[in-house]
Amino acid sequence: MKSEHDNAHVTVLGLGRMGSALAAAFLAAGHPTTVFNRTPAKADALAASGAVRADTVAEAVEASDLILVCVLDYAAVHDLLDPVAGSLAGRTLVNLTSGSPEQAREMAAWAAGHCAGYLDGGIMTTPDGVGHAESMFLYAGSPEVLAAHRETLAVLGDPIDLGADPGLASLYDAGLLGLMWSVFGGWLHATALVGADGVAASAFTPVAVRWLTTVSGFMDRYAGQIDAGHYPGDDATIDVQLAAIEHLLHAGRERGIDGRLPELHRELMAKAVAEGNGGDSYARLVDAFRGR
Ligand SMILES: NC(=O)c1ccc[n+]([C@@H]2O[C@H](COP(=O)([O-])OP(=O)(O)OC[C@H]3O[C@@H](n4cnc5c(N)ncnc54)[C@H](OP(=O)(O)O)[C@@H]3O)[C@@H](O)[C@H]2O)c1
Repeated sequence: MKSEHDNAHVTVLGLGRMGSALAAAFLAAGHPTTVFNRTPAKADALAASGAVRADTVAEAVEASDLILVCVLDYAAVHDLLDPVAGSLAGRTLVNLTSGSPEQAREMAAWAAGHCAGYLDGGIMTTPDGVGHAESMFLYAGSPEVLAAHRETLAVLGDPIDLGADPGLASLYDAGLLGLMWSVFGGWLHATALVGADGVAASAFTPVAVRWLTTVSGFMDRYAGQIDAGHYPGDDATIDVQLAAIEHLLHAGRERGIDGRLPELHRELMAKAVAEGNGGDSYARLVDAFRGR
């Protein structure tokens, strides 16, 4: 059965790598799509694929009730939208530009001040992942606005509702990028380590990826411990892991591998042991990151 969202008209402001992918996904799904970019030539390919090219931001805003913006930063969002703020009343602005939680909250208040619905978003993929249901799009700001446009936004990827605080998509985004960099760091360190003995990255990586699935199971278990503030070391204690990390440090030293990443982990574990928490699970180290 067709719903009103099947043909909802959308506007995409900003046609860099990501904005172009967003507009292309809407076009591919059959949504009439109006596009605008500061540098007009970046709209050429989309216009050739059926997008309506707006000559001005004002024209682009007036073309649709649902307006997505994806530009370099929040300053660029204001550069684009401040001059046409009066036209946003009664429309919905979905801001997929990366920024801080504080900037997101400021932008939500700015949109409310102009009588516009607002969602702040975080895109958890690269442009080639846009349009795939397994890609996560984080949304925060107004569950009602998300519910009203969910079907249309699902064209881009799986919409994840983080609730009414508009800062949460940026906060999750920052935390998740930090997680990605930590995983990349651990993987690259391990790849350098095994590579020193002639193991190819492409041989090691499938084993590493399977190990990450096991590790994510540990995280699921430890999340409940963190929320409860209780860290029973009934699977593996910090004492045991402090002993085990010495093998990693030793193997790295023997091979001339930079040991700063595992040394940080050892330092945090040693501190927990010194504080009398060596019998706890690894989740206890959340206190170190909280600065306690
Ligand atoms: N690429 C990714 O994998 C990815 C993933 C997740 C999130 N994001 C986020 O998506 C946003 C866009 O990234 P991108 O990769 O598309 O970057 P990009 O290819 O460098 O495109 C930047 C866009 O911002 C516009 N822009 C910059 N300053 C502007 C200003 N003052 N006024 C108006 N427009 C301005 C550019 O317009 P011109 O063409 O005129 O320069 C262009 O459309 C960023 O916030 C990024 O963090 C990107």
